[in-house]
Amino acid sequence: MPVISKRSSQLGTENAFVVLAEVGALQRQGKDILSFCIGMPDFPTPLNIQDAGIKAIQSGKHGYTPSAGIPELRKAAATYLNETRGLNYDAADVVVAAGAKPFIMYSILATTDYGEGHEVIYPNPGFPIYESQIKVNGAVPVPLHLRESRGFNFDPEELESKLNDKTRLLILNSPQNPTGGIVSRAELDNIVAILDRYPNVWVFSDEIYSQLCFEEPFISIASFPSMTERTIVGDGCSKTWAMTGWRLGFAASKALAPIFTKWVTNTESCASHITQWAGVEALTGDQTGADMMRSKFMERRDLIVDLLNKVPGITCLNPGGAFYVWPNVTEACEMIGAKDSEEFRQRLLLESGVAVLADIHFGRRVPDDGQHIRFSYAASNDDIIEGVDRLDVFIRKNTR
Ligand SMILES: Cc1ncc(COP(=O)(O)O)c(C=O)c1O
Repeated sequence: MPVISKRSSQLGTENAFVVLAEVGALQRQGKDILSFCIGMPDFPTPLNIQDAGIKAIQSGKHGYTPSAGIPELRKAAATYLNETRGLNYDAADVVVAAGAKPFIMYSILATTDYGEGHEVIYPNPGFPIYESQIKVNGAVPVPLHLRESRGFNFDPEELESKLNDKTRLLILNSPQNPTGGIVSRAELDNIVAILDRYPNVWVFSDEIYSQLCFEEPFISIASFPSMTERTIVGDGCSKTWAMTGWRLGFAASKALAPIFTKWVTNTESCASHITQWAGVEALTGDQTGADMMRSKFMERRDLIVDLLNKVPGITCLNPGGAFYVWPNVTEACEMIGAKDSEEFRQRLLLESGVAVLADIHFGRRVPDDGQHIRFSYAASNDDIIEGVDRLDVFIRKNTR
């Protein structure tokens, strides 16, 4: 067989998809599984957005679009970013792609060179695609630990200790996957004060969960005057408007928009023309659907945090956003004799039919922070109640 590139062996994956395959196999064997694995709203796309997609199909929106996206969507996205974050983008500063995910790769490609030792700092635990894309594009991954004791923020001193002449890019993500944590204004003040001493570092601010902030208003690091020029703001339609399968995201950066446009031409050509018109409706149309989903997620957050904290051996912080909780299961592992969160997760799935992800699916374990699992609470109240009940029974039954 011809040789497969070494680069390919460095590709990571999203383990949510691996665990989903396990869940699918068990379901085909007739097992009753409650799944809390996937980071996907369990609501249909709001009807006004569906209708806009149908109208686009029926009115002949079938051809390629400009690589940067249709002007109407670029303008709508710029206005949305300006209104929700107090920013000042023009339509020309925004580029559209098939999801928020491609901009993780484009940002790394636009700011680092292959094999030059350029470093990218990224949150750990974090969305696994960050580390994968850093490695496969020949940059050096530098994890920055998020700590439970800091409400899933990193220690600013730790950030400073990781910045150096080789650092090209810092990835931030708030609200955060997998912890649900929020980077507050006070934390951002500290981060910006440090970054002001490192003017050559770009920031990719992954704001895909920006509209799922429950208590505090969302703040983008791009709104700090010294950061606007060198921050790439990434967002999209997947989570806020339940459009994961439509594939639509966008990023804003005055300096990098022309480069991103070339990357899109070289890879996807353009995002789906039909989806882009649905995106215009998502951003500019009636927001009843998005508002309803947000209040449901908040209600479920309160439900699951309350229930999890009643389970023996488990403690769960109340996260400020997204639709994830990141309970600490260190004591529960000891109680049932599981060596770590991954063994705990596997046994919970096989013995009790509850599918969650373990911390190792989101990077290396944070030293001295214990064992965690992730629940995505994009699930009905009934499933949440039954899922946590099964977890409770599982621990009690197996306690030695
Ligand atoms: C932090 C984070 N960034 C980006 C994405 C990708 O979003 P999209 O589906 O729009 O590509 C996800 C999806 O789970 C995510 O959790």
